[in-house]
Amino acid sequence: MKVLIATDKPFSSAAVAGIKKIVEEAGYSLAVLEKYGTEDKFIEAVADADALIVRSDKVTKAVIDAAKNLKIVVRAGAGFDNLDLAALSARKIVAMNTPGQNSNAVAELAIGMMIYISRNQFTPGTGSELKGKVLGIQAYGHVGKLVADHAKSFGMTIMAFDPFVPKEVMEKDGVLVAKDLDDLYSHSNFISLHIPANDQTKGSIGYALLSKMPKGGCLVNTARKEVINEPEIDKILEERQDLKYVTDIAPANIATLKEKFGNRVFATPKKQGAETAEANMNAGLAAANQIVGFFKNGCTKFQVNKF
Ligand code: 3PG
Repeated sequence: MKVLIATDKPFSSAAVAGIKKIVEEAGYSLAVLEKYGTEDKFIEAVADADALIVRSDKVTKAVIDAAKNLKIVVRAGAGFDNLDLAALSARKIVAMNTPGQNSNAVAELAIGMMIYISRNQFTPGTGSELKGKVLGIQAYGHVGKLVADHAKSFGMTIMAFDPFVPKEVMEKDGVLVAKDLDDLYSHSNFISLHIPANDQTKGSIGYALLSKMPKGGCLVNTARKEVINEPEIDKILEERQDLKYVTDIAPANIATLKEKFGNRVFATPKKQGAETAEANMNAGLAAANQIVGFFKNGCTKFQVNKF
């Protein structure tokens, strides 16, 4: 049985060593393809793999077609919008993610970005504090809940909107429950996005929602860039000179945004949310354990596709 790690953005070497140990103790072999750059190398490496571990790497139909022995793909992380689920399901290949394993890393980054933008990106001048401000959490899953927990210790008031989480769960955490997105945006000094990228959410965050925000409002995106309507963000930042935007992954129009809005905008050059030693280890080991559990015991907990 061969397990392939294919990560254009590699795990830490300690995480790879941990994965190797789990895989080899189960009696399987491990191959590692890192920083491969182009899909042809991925296609070549996956040809004889029985199991695949990836991060944001695109598991396309071409990759799946080339993987003649493939039985399981684990996305070591939360968002699985990089997997072609239809193509995987058509071949009855199990797809999984590792929910919660890198959430704290993303949540800490969201808080860090809020401080960074509130302090003028650490340039001279008068900034502002998080204390006393309202933080609106859009989607109260693993990451959203952790951001809320961390933000409470800064003295922030937390409001959340998530149609998939019972309001009692949020209330029990001391979170104010918004009745809809307009309610959330109109009461929040900061909005932190934790929605997945799917047909319902892509391009959904734009002019209409941001125009509801109170004076000085700030949008924090540690989710996916696809959920943002980039031209509309440009438009509202132009119209509302008080608003700010910080994002963990540069939008296509970042050069224009920086030029026009300077310190009101910040983007990480490469997605950094899950880039910690701890998150690499947690998500990588979970992926390896899930593969072993699948082959040894038929465990399909965390499966995200149906067939
Ligand atoms: C996730 O969906 O888990 C995060 O976006 C992390 O993605 P990464 O593994 O590519 O850093």
